[in-house]
Amino acid sequence: MKVLQERIRQEGLILSDTVLKVDSFLNHQVDTELALQIGQEFKKLFGHQPITKVITIEASGIQFAMATAIALGVPFIYAKKKKAVTLSEAVYSAPVHSFTRQEDYLVSVSQKYLGPNDKVLIVDDFLATGAALVGLVDIVKEAGAELLGVGCVIEKSFQEGRSLLENRGIEVHALARIASMSPGEIHFIDNESS
Ligand code: G4P
Ligand code: NA
Ligand code: NA
Repeated sequence: MKVLQERIRQEGLILSDTVLKVDSFLNHQVDTELALQIGQEFKKLFGHQPITKVITIEASGIQFAMATAIALGVPFIYAKKKKAVTLSEAVYSAPVHSFTRQEDYLVSVSQKYLGPNDKVLIVDDFLATGAALVGLVDIVKEAGAELLGVGCVIEKSFQEGRSLLENRGIEVHALARIASMSPGEIHFIDNESS
């Protein structure tokens, strides 16, 4: 997605060889017009499938899951993150290890909102190590729902997330794929999408 790559070039802050901050338009302040375009782009990539629900994880995937759900005309769910202590209600849950924060947490979704009749598209902001996304994949499986794909706004292709998902037979699309970066320099992999 050309317009997204341009914004990353203009406004992205490359903090190290592995961490990109996009707080001015994606991750803290949100450019709503761009978010809606991102939703349309995911519709182009996945909308030929009979998706019934879009799922993401709180917090920074929410605006893109919502934009995609609006484009597809379906609801979206954001999985909640909890410290691995009490799980009172009837929820599907999966443990996730956060490499950035060096801690474990649980992601959970109420059993009321996901079930065997659902066909799910997972959407998130970053595809990095894939740890959080694999947690969501496990939840979809636990619910007996069908996973139709994973769409991420930014992929850091030098991390292992994509291969982790593709090894499970999952269709993955990212709108901006970063081959490598370092402060002052960023290289994208050319995309099939507009
Ligand atoms: P993932 O690939 O499945 O997202 O999992 P990973 O455990 O690698 O990423 C942990 C969290 O860090 C995720 O946020 C992910 O979006 C975020 N992240 C990874 N790399 C970057 C980066 O280069 N820049 C920024 N800004 N974020 C990055 P999360 O767990 O969904 O938390 P939240 O921030 O949405 O609350
Ligand atoms: Na995220
Ligand atoms: Na994040």
